Order: sequence, then C-alpha cells, then structure tokens
Amino acid sequence: MAQYPYIMKDMPVLLHGGDYNPEQWIREKDVIWKQDMEMAVEAGINTLSVGIFAWSMLEPKEGQYDFSWLDEVMEMLAKNGIKAVLATPSGARPPWMAEKYPEVLRVDEKGNRHLFGGRHNHCLTSPVYREKVRAINTLLAQRYKNHPALGLWHVSNEYGGECHCELCQQKFREWLKARYGTIDKLNDDWWNTFWAHRYTSFEEIHSPSPLGENTSHGLKLAWKRFTTQQFIDFYEWEIAPLKEITPDIPCTANLMHIYDGIDYFTFAKHLDVVSWDNYPFWTGDARDRDVVLLSAFKHDLMRGTGGQKPFMLMESSPSAPNWQPINRLRRPGVLMLQGLQAVAHGSDTVQYFQFRKSRGSSEKFHGAVISHDCSKENRIYKEVCDVGEALKTLAPVTGSGTENRIALIYDWENKWILEDAQFGRNEGGKGYTETVLSHYSALLQDHFGVDVIDENGDLSPYSMVCGPMTYMLRDGFAEKVEAFVQNGGVYVATYVSSWVNEEDLCFMGGFPGPLRKVFGLWDEETDALDDTQHNAFTWNGKTYKAKDFCALVHAEGAKVLSEYEENFYASYPALTENAYGEGTCYYIAARTDEDFLMDFYKTAAQKAGVVPNIPASENGVLTTKRIGENGTFLFVMNSLPEEKEAELPEGFELLSGKTIKGETKLSPYQVLVLKI
Ligand code: GLA
Ligand code: ZN
Repeated sequence: MAQYPYIMKDMPVLLHGGDYNPEQWIREKDVIWKQDMEMAVEAGINTLSVGIFAWSMLEPKEGQYDFSWLDEVMEMLAKNGIKAVLATPSGARPPWMAEKYPEVLRVDEKGNRHLFGGRHNHCLTSPVYREKVRAINTLLAQRYKNHPALGLWHVSNEYGGECHCELCQQKFREWLKARYGTIDKLNDDWWNTFWAHRYTSFEEIHSPSPLGENTSHGLKLAWKRFTTQQFIDFYEWEIAPLKEITPDIPCTANLMHIYDGIDYFTFAKHLDVVSWDNYPFWTGDARDRDVVLLSAFKHDLMRGTGGQKPFMLMESSPSAPNWQPINRLRRPGVLMLQGLQAVAHGSDTVQYFQFRKSRGSSEKFHGAVISHDCSKENRIYKEVCDVGEALKTLAPVTGSGTENRIALIYDWENKWILEDAQFGRNEGGKGYTETVLSHYSALLQDHFGVDVIDENGDLSPYSMVCGPMTYMLRDGFAEKVEAFVQNGGVYVATYVSSWVNEEDLCFMGGFPGPLRKVFGLWDEETDALDDTQHNAFTWNGKTYKAKDFCALVHAEGAKVLSEYEENFYASYPALTENAYGEGTCYYIAARTDEDFLMDFYKTAAQKAGVVPNIPASENGVLTTKRIGENGTFLFVMNSLPEEKEAELPEGFELLSGKTIKGETKLSPYQVLVLKI
C-alpha cells in the first residue's frame, strides 16, 4: 500500500482548477473578477493557475515592476479558499526585451535568428534571459512567500524546442567535452571515420542542421541528450530562488506526454511533482475507445516519469479546443470521463485550460469553464460543476498509489535513435511509439494495471516486464533484464531488439547481442513488409497476422511456440519461449495486431502470476486500481458512446453511493469508482 503526501500540504483533497488570466480583464475587473470567483466556488474549483504569460503586465518596462494587480488576485483567491498555482512568466517574454537584447531570441537550425512573437521560444543559454528570469522569479517568491494563497510553483509553460545560436553551440561543445573527454573518443563512438567525418577539435562541431551535418546518428543523439540537459539546467536556474525563498512550496513544469524533444524520464527527476497537459482528440464515435486508450497510456507514462507518485493533470479542455484539425464538441459525460480517467491513473488533480475564455487573440474560441456567454446555464459550466462534485466525493482517493505488477518500457533515447536509424521500413517511421502503445492497449484491455518505465527504471518490483522494440540498450539494461529473468521474472521481447549500444554502435557477433542467452535465440535478419503485405502464424489454434517487421530468428534453446506460414522463411519461429534461470523470456518475432497481443498477454501474465483487475468486460470498458490508506479503489470506465457491460467484484460505488457486484451496465462514457 502506497500513500503519498498531498500535492499541497494543506489541501487533503483532489484539486480542481485551471489556467486563469484575470490580467486580460483588468479594465473590467469589478464585474468579471467577481463573476469569476462566484462561478469558481460554485463549480468546486479550489485551485487556479495564475501568472502564466503575464510578464508584460508584471514588468511593463525593463526594471519597472507592477505586482499590484497580482496582489489583488492573490488576495481574491485566498478570500475564496482557492489556492494559486503561481507561474513564473518565462513562457513568453515582453517585446521590450527582444527589442533591446536580441540574444534572447532563438536561432533555428538553419542559423536564422527569429523575430519577436509567439511564445516558448527563448534561448536557454542567453545570460540576459537567465538574468531577467532570475530577477522576476526572485521578486515573485519574495513577494508571495507568506501568502496564504500560494500553493505550488508552475515553472514556465510547456518547455520545448531548441536554440542553435552561437551561445548554445558553445554550451553543446562543453557538454560534449564533459561526456566524451577526448575528440578521439567522440570520433570513435560516432563512427566518424565513415564519410571522412573525423573532427580534430570540439570547436569543429556544430549542432545538426539541414544545411550541414544531418546524417550522423551519434551527433543527432548527442544533440537530443544535450537539449534535455539544457532544459534541466534552465529549470534548475528558474527554481533556485523559489527553493531558497519558499522551500516548502513544491515546483512543477507542465509536460507534454510523448513530446519528442525532451527525455521526460530524465527531466522529471528534477520536479517535485509531475504535471502534464492532455488534449485528447475526442471523436464522439466508436474511435473514442482508442482516444481513451491513448490518454491512458499518456497518464501512465507521465506517472512513470515521476516514479509512480500521484501527478497533476495540469491542463485539459473543458470543451472542444480550437487547434485540432476537427474540434468536436464533447458529448455529455465525456468531460467527466476525461477528468476521472486522469484520477483513475494516478492524478490528484483535474485542471483545465482555461478557466475563462479570452475575448480576443488566437485562443478566443478554445474551450473554457466560463464561455463568452458568462452563463451558469452553459452546458459546459454545468458539467464542470458535476466534475467538481465528483472530485469532492472522491477525496478519499487523494494521495493513493498504484501497485502494478507489470512494467512496460518506453524509452526516449531508444525512440530517438531507432526512429533515426535507416533500415527496414523508413517510410512513416519505425513505429516505436505506436508499437509500445499497441502492447499497452492490449494489456489495459485485458484489465492489467501497467507501470510505464524507461530502461533506467528498476525492474525488480515487477513480475512481468515488456520491452517492445528496445533496439538500443542503455548501459546496464541487459544486465538488469538478465537478473530479472534469472530471478523468476517474465520478460517479453520483440523483433528489432538489442541491436545497438548506448552510443548506437551495433553489437558484434550476432543480435540480440548481450541478451542472446536470455532470449535463447539468434536474430539473423529482419524482413520489412509494406502495408499491403503480411505473413501469418498460428498459436493455440488461432491464426494471426504478422506485418511490417518479421524477424528471422533461430532458436538456440528457446521453445518454438509458433512458426511463420508463408514466404521463404515459412517454418522459422514467430513466437518463442525461453526458460532462463527461474524465469521466462518470450520473443514475438513479428509485429502483430491487437487480437494476438490481447491473447498473448493473458497467457504471459498468467505465467507471471499476475491477475487482472476484473474478470471480464465488453470491448471498450477499461479499469485501473489505486491503493492507499483509505482502501483499494477500482475505477471502471466506459470509453464508448454506448452502453457496455462488465463483470465486477463486490464494492461500494462512491459516485452513486450504492453497493454493486457482478454483471453491471455502464451508460455511455460512465465512470464507476468502487471501493473494494
Ligand atoms: C497548451 C498551453 C496552453 C494553451 C493550450 C491550448 O497546452 O500550455 O497555454 O495554449 O495548449 O490547448
Ligand atoms: Zn541559444
């Protein structure tokens, strides 16, 4: 049983709130702010994120600060029992800064310095930008350190992108020197003898660019690793005054789920609590099952980056956003599902972007708690009120953890280097994320709880670990897998696994390199099929499709459970099982559809002694468990706009206040929370 501290010390409840920009309404504050507070309180809102993008209102001219309006806002929040998620304003800079100090503006990969505009686009190295950020963050912390409304620091907003200016190039070179020591070591690790690429000094190295070096996998991987470190370095710079002046106030930065540019497992180690922004592409039809599965994966991934602690859903749209290709309205019930699904996967908050819809500029039609009608009769507002009620009822869930026995590997560095590699299927990419997601979806639909970890994660708490397409082995990962299986664990491997080391150098002497004994096979070649081609294999009397990648392997001790049925490699193994030490390693040689993965994982989990959350359900029903000092909570969610059935254990359903058991009907998008 894992019970974690509350995100805000004095708030032992689930938090409900959103991004709030009262400064946009400063001229009408007497009417608007009053209405904001009244409607927030009625909707059960207990947190609001303020100050995001407020720099030009906080420092209208260089060195001339105006905190008066924020003082008023903080007072108003405190009076209404609302905690501030107070932002540092670095997500967007005021025009005067760009005008006076062009070095704060980013330089793109082609070497062009950008003009003022947009947001999330400053140079992370610029001493001027850092100094300005340090100054305003210090003033904010000093001013509000004892304020009763201050609950949490929201550092910047959605860190992302990269800068290729000369300052950043220099920092990159320093980082390379620290990592590789000598230029010869770098040349060897990057295989630079190829195409006459041996550098004679670090000064010759430039970041990847379409105008320059854009083929060296070593360089590209190093640049991605460096960029992650840049964000960590910048984040640490931002929080230094916050930590010094307000040591008890936790800090977070809102993450963007599978965003490619930052290795979030590495970055999130620096956050007190992980928070992230979820914008599902709801369809309102049968495809919503996959929409919910994708959100589920992202929630579990984000929880994983924080070491499985409760996290924060920092942003979600109360109604249709405005930037998706098609912004469908949410059917009744979807808002509740969207919010409670986050809680089901370990969030202790449901927060929105945004609380009040802005009147002008580019996000004026983005979903919000309060729309331009300012009406409490608005459908969305009423649904937000319902979510507020539900969250109050679910207060006992706050701080509870998970006890999942299955881990699924999702590794940013592996993704970078695998997607960059050229072999097999290049068109449309190698499909790493999609592959991990397909394994995840099968496990979740089988009603298994899943923790998502990366190759640096600890495998020992788990009974089964699944590592689809772990093409690159980080240092130490092979040893961990070996020990895990040796000690009785069930490991699931697939095609395109264990080909290269941490520097992207191929393992010599046959794939899967250091895992050959654990897998019990030799992976000799890999066929790539186009979207019209496929192979087949039969297992337990059922025939399944093999597609995209088919590994041609030879069993070296592994038991062959199924063989390919077509092509010149008919009769080569398609599925193997290798007894190793006390444990077992399964190897799935080809990419398959969901039907196989769902059947396979039932068997593999049984082997690992893992039992599902519920015995069975109709397609579209998903479950999770949270376990804490107030008990075990089983979340049952219908992801579809039609009635569905599930077979449930006996439990007290918190939202309806009724005891239920056995075959249970769920209305469209309904969520049940059973204390079992
Ligand atoms: C992001 C940003 C917000 C807002 C929303 C709109 O998540 O953090 O400021 O722009 O998108 O969906
Ligand atoms: Zn720069």
